[in-house]
Amino acid sequence: MTTGCTEVIDLDPLDDTPPVESRVRPPAISGGTLTVLAGNVAVAADPDRDVVYVVDLDAGTLRHAIVLEPGDEPGRVEAGADGVAFVSLRGAGQVATLDLQAGTVVARRSLCPDPRGLAYDADAATLHVACADGALLHAPDVGDVERELLDPDLRDPVLVDGQLWVSSFRAADLRTPAGERLSPLFEDMQPHVAWRTRTRQVGDNPAQITMLHQLASVRPVPIDGSPGAGADDSPPPGGPGLDGGGDGDLAYGGGGGFCQPGIATTALSLMLGDEEAITIRLPSVPMAVDAAVSPDGQWLALAVPSSPPDRDSFVVAPLRDGDGCNVAAGASDGSMGQITSVDFTDDGGLVMLSREPAQLVYRAEGPHGPATIIDLGGESRFDSGHEIFHRATGSGLSCASCHPEGGDDGHVWLFTGLGARRTQALDVGLADTAPFHWDGDMEDFEMLVDEVLSHRMGGERQSTARRESFTRWLFAQQLPPARTAQDADLVAAGAERFGALGCATCHAGDRLMSNETVDIGGAQLQVPSLRRISLRPPFMHDGRSATLEDAVRDMIQVTRVTPQSLVIDEDVAAIAAYLRTQ
Ligand code: HEC
Ligand code: HEC
Repeated sequence: MTTGCTEVIDLDPLDDTPPVESRVRPPAISGGTLTVLAGNVAVAADPDRDVVYVVDLDAGTLRHAIVLEPGDEPGRVEAGADGVAFVSLRGAGQVATLDLQAGTVVARRSLCPDPRGLAYDADAATLHVACADGALLHAPDVGDVERELLDPDLRDPVLVDGQLWVSSFRAADLRTPAGERLSPLFEDMQPHVAWRTRTRQVGDNPAQITMLHQLASVRPVPIDGSPGAGADDSPPPGGPGLDGGGDGDLAYGGGGGFCQPGIATTALSLMLGDEEAITIRLPSVPMAVDAAVSPDGQWLALAVPSSPPDRDSFVVAPLRDGDGCNVAAGASDGSMGQITSVDFTDDGGLVMLSREPAQLVYRAEGPHGPATIIDLGGESRFDSGHEIFHRATGSGLSCASCHPEGGDDGHVWLFTGLGARRTQALDVGLADTAPFHWDGDMEDFEMLVDEVLSHRMGGERQSTARRESFTRWLFAQQLPPARTAQDADLVAAGAERFGALGCATCHAGDRLMSNETVDIGGAQLQVPSLRRISLRPPFMHDGRSATLEDAVRDMIQVTRVTPQSLVIDEDVAAIAAYLRTQ
């Protein structure tokens, strides 16, 4: 559109493309569901369609599409012995054993409510399973399962020289075999959301651990959208861009620009034993959910399903220490699909799994070679709500950057003028829970989309039809209770104390919440849901309680006006045990 000779640029574009709703609405992306076995056989799990594909890469053919139960949500895949592969069924709370030759499910074991990463130790013939509730399971091929209970939110177990390390998702740290927790550090940013942790071995060198994670700003983040609004005026130590406000007029910061990280940035950490971790920051790569290093150690491949549609949804870059400032996705014609998983063959071929359409992309000659596309079939799972939630906006952020897997990142953001705000979980069932945000300043979800997506994140405004469709997708993202195994008597005592101490007057109903705003320690706050609460430390709007016990103690003190010394330890322990089952 032109007026005179001045071109009119729409500064506030509206997306009014008619929304599309998939017949089965896809779950939020978790990524990393592909494993390439010796002999160039790829095993790829499809959580959107509840299928595991077995693909002969050399022949370019789909050998088997192993159909699972609806809602199984297959995740990580791990090779076992004798032509067997294991796949965690996150929706079913089971781990399936697959016969790859026959293309059949030979066993399904109920091991924990939300099994995530898997690691198979061939020497010990044992499968290690890391679960969201903190259970770390050791399941021998033959014999009884051994169970350890660690802190919640485990993600990937990895084996280095027969020793087991395990990552945690939101805290983005790594538990050593000795039980110490190592955390990658980077200037004034804090690691959060470790999407994928795996080992890499180059030649005869000792194995290294690679962790793909995000870095979140711990500096003040402006929320009103004017340039530098309210941000602290002193130049930040790392130069422009580290002020958490990014490069300009977007409230949640620029990002996506050369060496200027946004407030949540993609990073890769290389960790080995006692040596300090090396962290490579990738500020121009929006949310990435899987990473793999080529067998010669030269190349890093990333699955970047949050890329805008005119960019590839993967990145291949030389693996170098230091800043990956200029690493970015190339221009795309869309033929590769939306990549959610990456892996390499033993001879350096790159294999990528696209979520939509369901296909494998295989570059046999190396990460830059010509691509063969292997169609995996199945119904489309394109869904506008899913799309809006995952696509990065001009700020480099997507909703999923802070709400990974449709949940929360465990980060306490420091918003200028508002204070510390821990990201809220979205998987507790949000229908009928308006108003939103800790202090209830968002009257309804449509208002939140306008304010957060269009204003703070710099995304396009959405038509009413699109916002409504987005609401339906997001509100359907409800996960089951935590169900962490606990002493039944203690749980019963906890339920009784929860009622007797008046907790249930506010935390009521099956979501343990109400839509009321109440005065807690002088602040006006919405009563939050305690559904799945044990899975998301730290607690409270400002993250002040590190453990669930701390949070329960805090609540007893504040709501019952009880001095700390009079809080009864048995009450705290019992209520915490009860909440771990909710
Ligand atoms: C920079 C990180 C960040 C991004 C990006 C982000 N959120 Fe949030 N989200 C938060 C934080 C922090 C809170 C709590 C905010 C507050 O209380 O003021 C929150 C709260 C919410 C809530 C309220 C939940 C409740 O129970 O009241 C919803 C809904 C939500 N976000 C949805 C979204 C959507 C949709 C997007 C994308 C358009 C998005 N968020 C993008 C960090 C983020
Ligand atoms: C008057 C209403 C009210 C009562 C009674 C109440 N709570 Fe809360 N609860 C809240 C509010 C509001 C918050 C958020 C407080 C904050 O962020 O500072 C909260 C937060 C929590 C949290 C942390 C939630 C999160 O997402 O981090 C836990 C756990 C909790 N309450 C447990 C309890 C227990 C146990 C009791 C009984 C001893 C109790 N509450 C009594 C209103 C209440």
